[in-house]
Amino acid sequence: MLKLSHISKTFNPGTVNEKKALTDLSLHLRQGDFVTIIGSNGAGKSTLFNAVAGSFFTDAGSIELGGRDITFQPEFKRARVIGRLFQDPMRGSAPGMTIEENLALAAGSGGWFSHMTKRDRERFRDRLALLEMGLEDRMRQPVGLLSGGQRQALTLLMATMVPPQLLLLDEHTAALDPGTAEKVLKITRQIVEENRITTMMVTHNMKQALDLGNRTLMMDSGKIVLDVSGEERAGMTVDDLLERFRAGAGKVLDNDRILLSD
Ligand SMILES: Nc1ncnc2c1ncn2[C@@H]1O[C@H](COP(=O)(O)OP(=O)(O)OP(=O)(O)O)[C@@H](O)[C@H]1O
Ligand SMILES: [Mg+2]
Repeated sequence: MLKLSHISKTFNPGTVNEKKALTDLSLHLRQGDFVTIIGSNGAGKSTLFNAVAGSFFTDAGSIELGGRDITFQPEFKRARVIGRLFQDPMRGSAPGMTIEENLALAAGSGGWFSHMTKRDRERFRDRLALLEMGLEDRMRQPVGLLSGGQRQALTLLMATMVPPQLLLLDEHTAALDPGTAEKVLKITRQIVEENRITTMMVTHNMKQALDLGNRTLMMDSGKIVLDVSGEERAGMTVDDLLERFRAGAGKVLDNDRILLSD
């Protein structure tokens, strides 16, 4: 469903700041795959997401999504079918607009939010209640008043209101306090599994990387150095994972935010 074939990206080529961020990377995801991604700082995880989302065109290789070649499709077009969350909860929602207006925009159905129907509101209320954060009773408040965790949870709802073909989560719980992160993660799992959304999630939490999803990729220096799934993954501990990374990358996993347990 997502097929990356030999993609490469070098930043600032031919200068002293030249940086090969992705090197001849190939990856094939099946429909419904939920892939977790770990890697050292600067390994190219966010760059991989940028390449898939179309933030830039790759220097080489091709990208296929849902059977369509999107290698040279602009970012705004891909955004219709690719949902994305970042570490920063301030991204992805409009602070000056209310919760229900944000959801109406994300739902995209009834056009502009002034046409929001009673049914739309009921649907939004039900979705918000899933978060167990009390947001269903604050639908007419501006999003700017929400805490980071509440806002990130809302962004997740918005990104999946119309289930995307592909969901990219780039350390989307890293900036949240542990309790809130746990909640957002739980709802992530629920939404992704219920809708069978093909998902890639970057995390620095090793336990999360093994607990969630059906496949784990490890990146280093712009490459995928390990790809585990199935039985091999099912029996894996955090220590095994780190050892496998060391063996695959030839060095220890070095991420300044690395978490070995919850
Ligand atoms: N727009 C850019 N211009 C120049 N260099 C860039 C750009 N984006 C990323 N890089 C470089 O590419 C490399 C990969 O960066 P990337 O952000 O993908 O790493 P990452 O794996 O997401 O790391 P982290 O765990 O710290 O988020 C880094 O050396 C980074 O400095
Ligand atoms: Mg990153």
